[in-house]
Amino acid sequence: MRHFLDLADWRSSDIMGLLDRAHELKQAMKDGQQRPLLAGKTLGMVFQKPSLRTRTSFDVGMFQLGGHAVMLGPDEIQLGQRESITDVAQVLSGYVDGIMARVFQHGHLLQLAAKATVPVINGLSDDRHPCQALADMLTVYEAFGQIEGLKIAYVGDGNNVAASLMLASVKLGADFAIATPPQYGLPQTVWEKAVAEVTDRPVNIKGYTNPNEAVQDAHVVYTDTWVSMGQESQRDEKLRHFRPYQINEQLLSHARSDAIVMHCLPAHRGEEITDAVMDGPRSAVFQQSENRLHAQKALLVDLMG
Ligand code: CP
Ligand code: NVA
Repeated sequence: MRHFLDLADWRSSDIMGLLDRAHELKQAMKDGQQRPLLAGKTLGMVFQKPSLRTRTSFDVGMFQLGGHAVMLGPDEIQLGQRESITDVAQVLSGYVDGIMARVFQHGHLLQLAAKATVPVINGLSDDRHPCQALADMLTVYEAFGQIEGLKIAYVGDGNNVAASLMLASVKLGADFAIATPPQYGLPQTVWEKAVAEVTDRPVNIKGYTNPNEAVQDAHVVYTDTWVSMGQESQRDEKLRHFRPYQINEQLLSHARSDAIVMHCLPAHRGEEITDAVMDGPRSAVFQQSENRLHAQKALLVDLMG
């Protein structure tokens, strides 16, 4: 059974195949030429955390493909509390053709996938956000007509979004630079996975503490919230460390003049990104959020079609 839990498990050519398919599906939708590629199929959507983009784009995506989605919120399944995760996996597999789950512990996705007899998609865990990275790469591809040879710079917290973005970048041949406060870098295990990919490809990956250095000559300047879901109690402390890591016009002046700005959203305007940048001419954030729909439709067709 093929799952989509971590881009590290996917071949570069398969990821590029998803992006090509996403581009085709997006064009078909704009031309009014959608086909019911998942007619009669159902996706179960398990959420332990809130969501706007992931929940809506998967639901709408299934509808547009002629299928159906069932929402299972935190109070319904109570993953691992009301019954075991492996029991949930086996029960759901009897009803649905795919499971998309947003969880706290990445290990809970592994438990779901171990027992599910249908594909399991990671809709975000504390460690990874691969659906986001797929939409991000589609956005980069649309902006520059290529991914290979570009430089993607991430500034902020070394979190789930940063991890998946780094893995996607190296898999698809882009240089990746990340600037974080020293104590908030990506985990060693993520660096090891990315470095293992680099041996096959001529890409550079580098960590910085100075955001100006990281974004130097970057094609893409990317950020995410400084306080991820589940970290609310760390908010005051994190805000103190992250102030110098804001994406503002001064920081952007160090990137290429044609650089685009990306954010997975939700944004905390005035914290990790200013209004001027988010609403400015270089912002790709709403194209990026729309691309969640197209990228995930490609993924759903690939896994459930
Ligand atoms: N970017 C993203 O995953 O947004 P949601 O948390 O709203 O789904
Ligand atoms: N890093 C953020 C991403 C939200 C889409 C979080 O995990 O809350």
